[in-house]
Amino acid sequence: VRIGLVGAGWAAAQHAASLAALGEAPPVVVTDPDAARAERLARDCGAQVAPDLGALLGHGLDAAVVSTPTGAHAAAILPLLAAGVAVFVEKPLSVTPEDAAAVVAAAAASGLPVAVGYQWRAVPALEALRRELAGQRVALLATLGIGITQARPWFTDGALSSGLLGERGSHHLDLLDRLGGPVAEVRAVRGGVRVSGAAPVGSADVMTVSCTYTSGAVSTTALVWASPEHAAEQSLRVVSDGGHYLLALDPDFRLTGRSGHRDVLVDSAEVPFVRQLARFLAAVRAGTPDDVFCTPEQAARTVAVVSAAARSLDTGAAEPPGYELVSPW
Ligand SMILES: NC(=O)c1ccc[n+]([C@@H]2O[C@H](COP(=O)([O-])OP(=O)(O)OC[C@H]3O[C@@H](n4cnc5c(N)ncnc54)[C@H](O)[C@@H]3O)[C@@H](O)[C@H]2O)c1
Repeated sequence: VRIGLVGAGWAAAQHAASLAALGEAPPVVVTDPDAARAERLARDCGAQVAPDLGALLGHGLDAAVVSTPTGAHAAAILPLLAAGVAVFVEKPLSVTPEDAAAVVAAAAASGLPVAVGYQWRAVPALEALRRELAGQRVALLATLGIGITQARPWFTDGALSSGLLGERGSHHLDLLDRLGGPVAEVRAVRGGVRVSGAAPVGSADVMTVSCTYTSGAVSTTALVWASPEHAAEQSLRVVSDGGHYLLALDPDFRLTGRSGHRDVLVDSAEVPFVRQLARFLAAVRAGTPDDVFCTPEQAARTVAVVSAAARSLDTGAAEPPGYELVSPW
């Protein structure tokens, strides 16, 4: 598969490393408005540098990995799809629901695989959790995201970043939408005490988000944009009418719990960040657009939930995500 990289920052370097780990061919071309970054990553991969997206398209690509700041994703994806290039794009899909809708429509019209990088969907223990929950009713979801975040210059720009809610919280909100089903309403609250000194979009580094689901389930999400002084923790608890489970997320992935007088333990050594790219490349080779871990439709739902949470920060009210209240799973 001939792959190009759009954006040559942190995430792009991780994806180049994933290609090497999978034994795939390295990227053939890299573009980034920061020429020094593009040249550094291209040198590391043995790729060429293209001065812009138009020049990148001249390299006869099958697929591109888009790792630009979030607000610049759609402007890269639309011309790639129009040129017949399949796209793996980092999460969140976009800052605005309008950009997300444009990508969903373009992806459907192209018939090409488009995958969005919510790597926790590729955690094998999540599949085990979904099997456990089959036939049970989810009652409570509680997720904790205390993450050490290295600030990027664009994190404080509302046109490029959706802040703590989108850049970190959307990993959690995406998992919750997958497990809890359609979100009826979202309420988000800012914390008043700074813990890291960062001032991301949304102007707080501590937040809680509560969702109600059309199923009757409720969820709570606690988000902290932490500094290296803190211990990181990413985890999800699920209480259903039949069991109680804990999914530890990053850097180790392990499901524990108890259901019907039976202990549950599922460990997986597979790296989801790499597994999601492998699944995308398999979909490109097979020409099966729906066979990716996160489709644009699914990621657009998460953009809608994040946007509703951001509105709620300002209105103080519970806000509906405004997406179709059907489960796409
Ligand atoms: N899945 C994850 O766990 C994860 C982790 C980190 C970042 N991300 C996502 O990856 C994306 C990039 O984040 P990052 O941490 O790599 O940021 P970064 O700042 O390290 O890299 C972004 C790069 O994009 C370049 N860029 C800006 N505009 C561009 C354009 N129009 N075309 C091409 N390149 C452009 C910048 O010059 C920069 O080099 C974001 O959407 C972020 O949310 C995901």
